[in-house]
Amino acid sequence: MGNIELQLVKYAKVVDHFILERLSGSPENLYKAALHLVKAGGKRLRPAIAMLIARMLDGIEGEARAIPLAAAIETSHTFTLIHDDIMDRDDFRRGVPTVHKTWGESWAILAGDLLHAYSYNFIVSSVEYGLTKSEAHEAMRILTTAGIKVSRGQAYDLLFEKTWDVSVVDYLDMVFHKTGAMMEASAKLGALAGKAGADVIELMGQYGSFLGVAFQIRDDYLGVFGDPAKTGKPIYGDLRRGKKTLIVIYAVNSLKGGDRDFLVRILDPNVEKDEESLARAAELIRKSGAEKEALNLARIYADRAKEIVGRLKNVADEEAREALIVLADYAVERER
Ligand code: IPE
Ligand code: IPE
Ligand code: MG
Ligand code: MG
Repeated sequence: MGNIELQLVKYAKVVDHFILERLSGSPENLYKAALHLVKAGGKRLRPAIAMLIARMLDGIEGEARAIPLAAAIETSHTFTLIHDDIMDRDDFRRGVPTVHKTWGESWAILAGDLLHAYSYNFIVSSVEYGLTKSEAHEAMRILTTAGIKVSRGQAYDLLFEKTWDVSVVDYLDMVFHKTGAMMEASAKLGALAGKAGADVIELMGQYGSFLGVAFQIRDDYLGVFGDPAKTGKPIYGDLRRGKKTLIVIYAVNSLKGGDRDFLVRILDPNVEKDEESLARAAELIRKSGAEKEALNLARIYADRAKEIVGRLKNVADEEAREALIVLADYAVERER
């Protein structure tokens, strides 16, 4: 395990403790369904971004103030995952059957709603951790803004399933919303806990946002070429659903003739497909060079994120800055 993964584990422990202490109540099934994915693991990348930024800007005091905000972003993220799996009809996540597969769709919707509500509850409790009321209000604004962006991005993700009229720019805009927004919020919340001014909060938001785009491009890649034993998620789900991921857009733009027709047909959500034809589609994507092209673009976004965090003057903790730089590399190099 790399050093950065150890950092993630460290923050995961703190944040999980905060969440697990508060997430109990009745009826039992509701809380069990809500805790299903929390207990299954996950990388806890968003809390790590928040806590590392808080530490970079204001040392261990900043880091301690960030705990409820980091927990809020993780419960909010988990809520989006539960609803996303219903929309994407995925059966596995974090190496376990998805919430709707285990508890049924109604309970999964409720579990998501519950987690969403708790995330605001956690923001409110941040005043007990050293945030002023006005900072807690700002944190509320950051989280609601992210929620609006994620819903819009997810809506575009769904709409794109049904059309080929999706450019690279359309894809990037969709991803800035569905994934970048949560990372942006994580970073801004961390900066807020680190007592940063509006300009630094904004700058850190850009770090999160760029990292998020790089992260999602890698996620799309892992969804076709990754190892489910490592990612904890099934492969080919995006191809089955007709998702217009960056690798698919690049591949369809460069393939010709029968190869292109084959890939377009596989991406039709109404066409029945077996494992063999999905594997052939994956091979065509690789052959087209789309995989390399997509990872190059992911690298560009990760480098932008690194440049932003490297640009800050007079940080309180250089090690945290270094970890944030490594985290941007991790977003594009990760196997899980
Ligand atoms: C999955 O996020 C959803 C995307 C934005 C790609 P993560 O890959 O961070 O999921 P967990 O939290 O580690 O399970
Ligand atoms: C990621 O969605 C964004 C959100 C969950 C809001 P995806 O559908 O691309 O991610 P995975 O692959 O299911 O985690
Ligand atoms: Mg999705
Ligand atoms: Mg999904």
